[in-house]
Amino acid sequence: MTELPDTDQCLQEQLEDPAVIVIFGATGDLTRRKLFPSLFSLRRNGLLPENICIVGASRSELSHEDFRESMRQSVDKSADEAPDDWELISRHLFYHSVIYDDPESFNTLKSFLDKLDGEFQTRGNRLFYLAVPPTAYKEIAGQLGRAAMSREDPEKDNWVRLIVEKPFGRDLESARDLDRSLHAHFSEHQIFRIDHYLAKETVQNILMLRFANSIFEPVWNRLYIDSVNITVAEQLGVEHRARYYDNFGVLRDMFQNHMMQLLALCAMEPPSIFQAERVRDEKTKTYRSLRPFPVHDLDKYLILGQYSSGIINDKPVTGYLEEKGVDPDSLTPTFASMKVFIDNWRWQGVPFYLTSGKRMPEKNTEINIQFRQVPNSLFRGIIGEDISANSLTLGIQPREEIHLSFQTKVPGHKVCLRTVQMLFDYHQDHAGPHLDAYEKVLLDCLLGDHTLFWRQDGVELCWGFLTPILEECDCPERGKRLHTYKAGTWGPKELKKLMNHHGLNTM
Ligand code: BG6
Repeated sequence: MTELPDTDQCLQEQLEDPAVIVIFGATGDLTRRKLFPSLFSLRRNGLLPENICIVGASRSELSHEDFRESMRQSVDKSADEAPDDWELISRHLFYHSVIYDDPESFNTLKSFLDKLDGEFQTRGNRLFYLAVPPTAYKEIAGQLGRAAMSREDPEKDNWVRLIVEKPFGRDLESARDLDRSLHAHFSEHQIFRIDHYLAKETVQNILMLRFANSIFEPVWNRLYIDSVNITVAEQLGVEHRARYYDNFGVLRDMFQNHMMQLLALCAMEPPSIFQAERVRDEKTKTYRSLRPFPVHDLDKYLILGQYSSGIINDKPVTGYLEEKGVDPDSLTPTFASMKVFIDNWRWQGVPFYLTSGKRMPEKNTEINIQFRQVPNSLFRGIIGEDISANSLTLGIQPREEIHLSFQTKVPGHKVCLRTVQMLFDYHQDHAGPHLDAYEKVLLDCLLGDHTLFWRQDGVELCWGFLTPILEECDCPERGKRLHTYKAGTWGPKELKKLMNHHGLNTM
């Protein structure tokens, strides 16, 4: 029997390598909101070795002190609570101004990092984080290569890793082009393509639920499953990222990455062992089995929407076209729902409904496995043919829980059935610290573990799969396909046609 493990043991693997973490885009939003707070939280939980240096790099001219002050503000309360940890991390925190298109600037960065190696024994280990707009990826990777910072040196036995954030291109062609540019200077084992969804505990748990239990897999197929609904509903609009978003839209922003990963985790075959390449091989096989969209009959498979003004939490919110930074004539979708089939033995004929949108009534990410109805209702004489089918719902966020719904008898003389829920709350029996997604990816990258990162073949297969619908959605007549939905609702009413008898269970 598996004992309840000691929380501390589960928190992390032994991380011992010293390193210099260089964050390009250090004055940007991602660094302030996610990266530095995650690094500080790792420090507070004792999960970061002492000799890790963090170097912020960006175009602005800042002193080390200015940078420390701005990072201090990003973790304000937390630094007050843990002054010793702040003191420790700030002694290892530096800033270096870099002009991205100036080779000389990278030469001076290299000298600076080499100097830190001498001072802090960081042994030439480097983690370069590109927290910059995607248009700068190629330039920075190229400059790192030309300044001899991308190579690992077998004599020094050091490692050099590069983290890139999505979007990995905006279509198949540009994704390949980006990859060629990265590979001109870095090998595949050095490249870490982040999808922060993969680092969510409840997302990682999908494989544990499926493959560490023997009761789910036997029914996890077309014989027992009627449909799978994957929903990522967001309450937020485009916030301060309107310019980026208006150029990308929901298909590129959410589907090419997070949604496709959730789909793969639900549908993939079990790898023979839980190792990065084996897990990623199985995901790739799933992507290869996706049935291409019938472009001439797309409306049966795809619904696109854009939010108009509406009410959320009793407050009025503006429509997408009125958002600051959005083209007032924009035809960019903020909502999409698609019906996807996987042509393999396990899933033939089972629809997967993938739905994501902004400005929905609430934030809710969940995966709902809808089982088939019982084959023969022996209660038909009493309660009719229809007995609600079982469903298993994996709550990803904010409700981190799993519930199984099934039928039971209502106590009493008459035969009546009722649907009841068996609930597992993810936080039950667990009091230890909780790693946030960025903490997890940073740790995994420092450990060199690729399991939770995209591999290029998967990226390309997913772009390839989405290309026909992206082309349709980018064409001049795309307005015909775009339905409006009021902010604070669950999407366009046309969604019903796509879902026919299946429904989003949040609606
Ligand atoms: C990002 C998208 O990748 O994921 C955003 O670019 C989206 O548009 C976000 O809001 C959602 O992430 P989470 O973790 O809040 O569900």
